[in-house]
Amino acid sequence: MSSTRWLRRSGPPRLEFGADYNPDQWPREVWDDDVRHMREAGVTIVSLAIFSWARIEPADGEFDFAWLDDAMDLLHANGILVDLATATASPPPWLAAAHPEILPVDRVGNTISPGGRQHWRPTSPVFRRYALRLVRALAERYRDHPALAAWHVNNELGCHNVHDYSDDAARAFRSWLRIRYETIEALNDAWATAFWSQRYTSWAEILPPRLAATFPNPGQQLDFKRFSSDALKDYLIAERDVLREITPEVPVTTNFMVMGEQSSMNYADWAAEVDFVANDHYRQRGVRSADELSFSANLTGNIAGGRPWFLMEHSTSAVNWQPVNLPKRPGELERDSLLHVAHGADAVCFFQWRQSRGGAEKYHSAMLPHAGPDSDLFRSVVALGSRLHELAPLAGTPRTRARAAIVFDWQSWWVAELDSHPTNRLRYRREAFDWYLAFLDLGIRADVVPLDTDLSGYELVIAPILHVVPAALTTRLTTYVDSGGHLVTTYFSGIVDENDHVWLGGYPGALRDLLGIRIEEFAPLPDDGRAELDNGLTGSLWTDRIDLTATDVEVLATYKSGDVAGRPAVTRRPVGAGSASYVSTRLGPEGLRVLLADLAARAGVTSDLPDDLRGRVELTRRGGFQFVINRTDEPVDISTLSPAHPVLAARGVAVLS
Ligand code: GLA
Ligand code: GLA
Repeated sequence: MSSTRWLRRSGPPRLEFGADYNPDQWPREVWDDDVRHMREAGVTIVSLAIFSWARIEPADGEFDFAWLDDAMDLLHANGILVDLATATASPPPWLAAAHPEILPVDRVGNTISPGGRQHWRPTSPVFRRYALRLVRALAERYRDHPALAAWHVNNELGCHNVHDYSDDAARAFRSWLRIRYETIEALNDAWATAFWSQRYTSWAEILPPRLAATFPNPGQQLDFKRFSSDALKDYLIAERDVLREITPEVPVTTNFMVMGEQSSMNYADWAAEVDFVANDHYRQRGVRSADELSFSANLTGNIAGGRPWFLMEHSTSAVNWQPVNLPKRPGELERDSLLHVAHGADAVCFFQWRQSRGGAEKYHSAMLPHAGPDSDLFRSVVALGSRLHELAPLAGTPRTRARAAIVFDWQSWWVAELDSHPTNRLRYRREAFDWYLAFLDLGIRADVVPLDTDLSGYELVIAPILHVVPAALTTRLTTYVDSGGHLVTTYFSGIVDENDHVWLGGYPGALRDLLGIRIEEFAPLPDDGRAELDNGLTGSLWTDRIDLTATDVEVLATYKSGDVAGRPAVTRRPVGAGSASYVSTRLGPEGLRVLLADLAARAGVTSDLPDDLRGRVELTRRGGFQFVINRTDEPVDISTLSPAHPVLAARGVAVLS
């Protein structure tokens, strides 16, 4: 969990508003125009110098701070704070030319060339030496600058370079493994190297999972995922420690990417290393993306331990990196921003302030678009700035905990999607998101929480595809249920321990006793396969051949078709004051809505919304305020909830006190 620090600033609490600011892309005279419009929009903070290494250090060891001094002073003179980047995200061409050994290597052995960004090995000692020298120089230069409110380590660590298979990575991987296993025998056990003659006799024989003739060892793959997340975390700590040494009073953060299928960095594990959590989020068209935003923001808030977090980037309108980049519809800019605030963000920032004329991201929207300030987009930005200004009383307030939670676990995400499994169609995050959609559709608030969260305050806990269940987790979940909690889990849960070794005696080994069921063989479905249930729902992706092993298990739904016809599809076992339920197929958001209505009712968890609003709006609670967020493209009459605000515009948000 992150500590309670926030920006270094004085003045009353407020919500921060701003963007990445890249003045080095523009002639000096444009900067005056920038700050004038920033003030007009109510910008309070910018992230500066994220991609400025080549400008700050034009040649090895020669620093040019004059332009950055000027930018810092100008911003300060205009009352704008700076989240100052350490500028290490994109090493300059001279560094890559002099030291090609900093360049990452892919699994096939191809060297990643400079020319994009983030072309550096997380484990390169040479890169680290140069980068930390820059960090130190920046920290010493700006330690006392009054605009400096926070440090921004690198940028989106791991966005492009998380999996590096270079010789540096191999060396660091071996060191990491030695710490984890201590003896080569312990590693051989964990990796099950008796299989396929993979037994290691010395650490030096071990490599990252580079291109192999067939499936690389799953233990090696899993540990490489853990190692790769840890290597970047270690790099984050290295920069942070330089900053803390020189400016102990300035908080340090880095922008996480809790969004979509970005699975490689275990942010639940990183959060303790930053002074406050920051996140970037971009909507991906076509996957109920406004609800996905809510899911990501919700999870980010819980990774931050319920404390305020910083939305470092999102987009004012279109991005440039999807196959087709649609602009946002009227209302979406404000709704997206306030959804993050509803889930605990105390800052709303964008990539980037002024839309670039050149470079790879010139068609990515910004706060100040190509069209200039005389544009609907800029007017929406100004309006958002004043709305956030009005919401200042929210700053620093916690979100109100929900009664239900969805557990999110990086280890299960990684392992459940490894190769050579019963199906390669399973998507961990999609299943978790389907449950979230079901909660939203029922109008029941639910928290998305990292696995190590204390679950005791939740009456209903969904643990979708909780695939990796070490013995201690079985105990934790059993205690939760024994003390009255209602646990729901799904197909492919409880299957393996922390080493990806199967729990024997029938699936789901680690949860078999708790659930009172036993499965001898998985029965995944082909792509067009469907399983009809006797309650009218239809499953896809997966089925199980379930036998009941306890007499008190209730069958909530039975398969009607296929090889599993007549067998239980959904089970629920009362345990003490609680229960343990199992859902053996993928029901999707529509099916889960029906099932969850039943499971939630049995757990006594109900919606806070009037009947007519359930599903049409999302409700969150924060600091005595209620956020009512219109999920639809139509106006919604919310008079049953708030007679004072009878109509919520399409995609609109009401904040009620
Ligand atoms: C990431 C980066 C930004 C920019 C945006 C574009 O979030 O941090 O520099 O590239 O994506 O969406
Ligand atoms: C081949 C190999 C076996 C095993 C099977 C699995 O037949 O010879 O070792 O890998 O495939 O289908």
